[in-house]
Amino acid sequence: MFSENAARVAVFISGSGSNLQALIDGTKAGILSAKIVLVVSSRRDAYGLERAAKENIDTFVFKAKKYATPEEAGEALLDKLAEHKVEYIALAGYLKLLPAELVKTYRNRIVNIHPALLPKYGGKGMYGHFVHEAVIANGDKESGVSVHLVDEIYDHGKVLEQVRVPVMPDDSPDDLAARVLKQEHKLYARVLEKLIKGKYHITNE
Ligand code: GAR
Repeated sequence: MFSENAARVAVFISGSGSNLQALIDGTKAGILSAKIVLVVSSRRDAYGLERAAKENIDTFVFKAKKYATPEEAGEALLDKLAEHKVEYIALAGYLKLLPAELVKTYRNRIVNIHPALLPKYGGKGMYGHFVHEAVIANGDKESGVSVHLVDEIYDHGKVLEQVRVPVMPDDSPDDLAARVLKQEHKLYARVLEKLIKGKYHITNE
C-alpha cells in the first residue's frame, strides 16, 4: 500500500486523537504520502491509542517523570523513534513540552497544530478549550488554525500555514472548537505533505 520510500512519521497525542485520525485518513486518501509508524501518547488512557491500535500502528506511552533525569527520558524517546526509523514528527494535541534533545535531533522536522491564529493565544497553558474561551472572552471576530514548526518554546516556531474561521456572536467555546477542529482536519495532512516534499522555505535561524 505504501511505497518503499514513504516518509516515516510518528504522531504524538495526549487525548482524542481526531487529528491523528485525519492524518491516517490522509495517508489512505493519498493526500499524505507518508507511513505513520508510531503513535506516542503522554497518557495511557488517550482515546487516540485505540485509533492507532485499530490501524495496527505501534504505540508508546511516554511519561518523562518515569525516568531518573530529563536527559534519560529524552534518550528513551529518541531510542524508540530510532527503532521505528522515524523521520518526521506531527504533534496532534500533544500537551507536553518535548525533550530538548529530541527537538535538536528533529529540528525542522516536527510540526504542531494549534487551534488559534498564532502568535495570538499561544504559550504554556494555552491549549484546547482554554484557547477558545480566551478568544471568546476577548470578543475576537475571528480565530483559526495554525500549523507551525516546533522549537524549544511552546507554540513559537515558524508558522507554515494558517486558516481563518469566523467567531459567531453567540458561540460557546465548544461551538468555536468544533468549527476550528473541522479546519484542522482538512489542513494538517496537506501541510505535513508539503513539509515532507520540501515545499516550505525553511532557514536555520
Ligand atoms: C486540537 O484542537 C489541537 O489543535 C489542540 O488540541 C486539540 C486536540 O484534539 N492542540 C493544542 O491546543 C496544542 N497547544 P485531537 O486530540 O482530537 O486531535
